Amino acid sequence: MTEPSSSPWRHLQGFRADLLWFPDPQKPQLSHLQDGLLVTGQGADGIVRIVAIGPYKDIYPQWASQASAGPDAADFPVTHWPDRCIAPGFVDLHIHYPQTDVIGSPADGLLPWLEHYTFPHEKQFSDPAYARAVSGFFLDELMRHGVTTALCFATAHPESVDAFMTEARQRQLRMVTGKVLQDRHSPDGLRDTDTAESLRQTEDLIRRWHGVDRLGYAITPRFAPTSSAEQLHGAGEIAQQFPGVWIQSHVAENLDEIRWVQTLFPAARSYLDVYDRAGLLRPRAVYAHCIYLDDTDRQRMAEAGATAAVSPTSNLFLGSGFFDYPASDAAGLGYGLASDVGGGTSFSPFHTMHAAYTVARQSIGRAGISLAPEHLWWQHTAGAAQALDMAGQVGNLLPGCEADFVVLNPQATPLLARRTAQTETLAEWLFAMIVLGDDRLIAHTVVQGHTVQPGTPVT
Ligand code: GUN
Ligand code: ZN
Repeated sequence: MTEPSSSPWRHLQGFRADLLWFPDPQKPQLSHLQDGLLVTGQGADGIVRIVAIGPYKDIYPQWASQASAGPDAADFPVTHWPDRCIAPGFVDLHIHYPQTDVIGSPADGLLPWLEHYTFPHEKQFSDPAYARAVSGFFLDELMRHGVTTALCFATAHPESVDAFMTEARQRQLRMVTGKVLQDRHSPDGLRDTDTAESLRQTEDLIRRWHGVDRLGYAITPRFAPTSSAEQLHGAGEIAQQFPGVWIQSHVAENLDEIRWVQTLFPAARSYLDVYDRAGLLRPRAVYAHCIYLDDTDRQRMAEAGATAAVSPTSNLFLGSGFFDYPASDAAGLGYGLASDVGGGTSFSPFHTMHAAYTVARQSIGRAGISLAPEHLWWQHTAGAAQALDMAGQVGNLLPGCEADFVVLNPQATPLLARRTAQTETLAEWLFAMIVLGDDRLIAHTVVQGHTVQPGTPVT
């Protein structure tokens, strides 16, 4: 809880409901408060942040008088959602917007899936109008599922980045994306035919988009097999020149892919080492999958400050394998959850958390573990934010965090209502939502104080 001060927050408003948040963003432990109040206000930089969180009866009077004394001398509008629960907006650590229409395309593993469905489909994003239309649909779909921040692949076409950034900016979303770098082993129409030009395009897009409103840029080599060593090293040089931009790629997802990397980069100690030699391991570097890393790789990632995007629905759908949670924890490797749409099968964070639980239980050749529901939730909110180097900014409801959140309706379906009503502990309640939840559980998504699906305002 934060005391009202003389700080000049504008447009103070309150949201009254039950509250779910992480009091210590480093720890996967949730606080649950009945009849709470979340207060938001706009700072001098234009960003709407959470100003206070606490019991409604304690903090409403203080903030109502603060609002009337503030620069707006305004009322203190409060939106009340009885029987609902406000929780942090979800953070998706790895997703491909151009693969929205690739979801559910079956193939005999990653490489045939890329060749037969994904690469041909991605060629269409050279068309700016098409890229704008898909970007808009994709972002609305993310918000409908309660996802308010994502680290997202575009395609090799710079137009695909412009389209996504434009649509995300219109929606005031905090999003990170980048032009895919792929200058070999890719079809005409998707391949960078001039490596130097692909790197110039990357720099140009960084200058145009990184830090504009809530947008960030990610240097995006697709994966080692589709980039020449020259392109990877060029990407590493840009990463050094712009330490604030993100890096995203795929690593150690599939056994055929790994064998291919070994033949392409015989001098590298491991697949991860290909990126390391190119200067692509550093804080703000997020690698999807990280299934077939060894302990040296995990330690190297941890030491470099790079993190893993765990993508369980994708790994189950494509038959790639299982992320090793105990080994990652032992190495101190940071991670968070990702849908990896369209290899992944759902935009829903509940489906992803459920799949992560299932994957961690697998005991083929190792001891299965049971991830706690609070830990699963953390991996898709505050933990994912930490892996993105956005701790304290998104994925939580602590004062100072940006005001992006969801309103859960645990009565959304007959079965959810019945099952959640019979739970006795917070963990049981969270588990019921993780296993039974989908987009219907998200009653509203609030981005920067704007409710995407409005509730009933009361004062
Ligand atoms: N490896 C290289 N490209 C891709 C992609 O689009 N999806 C997944 N899952 N893995 C990849
Ligand atoms: Zn991916």
